[in-house]
Amino acid sequence: MIHIRNLRKSYGRNAVLQGIDMDVRAGEFVVMLGLSGAGKSTLLRCMNGLNQPDSGTLRVGDIDLMRKHSRRELARHVAMVFQHHNLVPRLSVRKNVLTGRLGQTAALASVLQLFRQSDLTLAGQCLDRVGLAHKAHERTEALSGGQMQRVGIARALAQQPQVILADEPVASLDPQTARSVLQYLRDATRELGIAVVCNLHQVDYAREFGDRIVGLAQGRMVFDGTPAELDAAALDTIYHAAPQNEPEAGRGSISAPPANAWVRTAAPAGGL
Ligand SMILES: Nc1ncnc2c1ncn2[C@@H]1O[C@H](COP(=O)(O)OP(=O)(O)OP(=O)(O)O)[C@@H](O)[C@H]1O
Ligand SMILES: [Mg+2]
Repeated sequence: MIHIRNLRKSYGRNAVLQGIDMDVRAGEFVVMLGLSGAGKSTLLRCMNGLNQPDSGTLRVGDIDLMRKHSRRELARHVAMVFQHHNLVPRLSVRKNVLTGRLGQTAALASVLQLFRQSDLTLAGQCLDRVGLAHKAHERTEALSGGQMQRVGIARALAQQPQVILADEPVASLDPQTARSVLQYLRDATRELGIAVVCNLHQVDYAREFGDRIVGLAQGRMVFDGTPAELDAAALDTIYHAAPQNEPEAGRGSISAPPANAWVRTAAPAGGL
């Protein structure tokens, strides 16, 4: 579904992605871990056409993102779930979900916010998948943070994408709500066969929800394995990587994971 080879992206002299290789299959839930600044969001933004890579191969479904493509075409393949959900607070929950259809609605109908009956039905089904069908007609601003994030997932599902990219979708939620949001995301995408790449800072969530975990450090993929394979050595590789071109800086400068990362310091009984 996603095919990436030797992908490179620099901002000026800052080589942010330094030759990424990655494949994601339909229905696979891939969690991406890495220190702040490792390049996780940049990679997601490349997959969503928001960043233009400098070189390499990047295909999502049958779209070649290294070539010219239309946003409308890409919207049929890729949906994004954001940390701050990016919903319109004053609109109803259902209207926010319907905005996921705008990329696939004729231009005039989009402007007039006219939707097909099939889109209304689809929006209801997507809300049902995240347990919010009963909130369809409420104003979005009246929902809790966790509910809003689930509306964000429903909106992404309404795009009927082949791929969902989620950039720290639970960063601002309490642990219980965060887990329920990830559960909704994983269950819906698994049932629908959607490939997911989800950036997280919480190692425990990565283990619990990822079919597969990839680790990024200084723009390179330094780990790619199952949750069971994410042992202490793998975490060390992901989170304690010394900066390239700055060997004298040593590990001390960036050795700690971000404050909101959850890293086990000791293996639990039974191993990691
Ligand atoms: N638009 C931009 N212009 C210039 N530099 C950028 C831009 N976007 C990102 N960068 C740089 O690219 C590097 C990687 O940033 P990115 O946002 O991808 O990291 P991240 O892994 O998502 O970090 P975090 O966990 O904090 O979200 C950083 O050094 C950042 O400063
Ligand atoms: Mg980021």
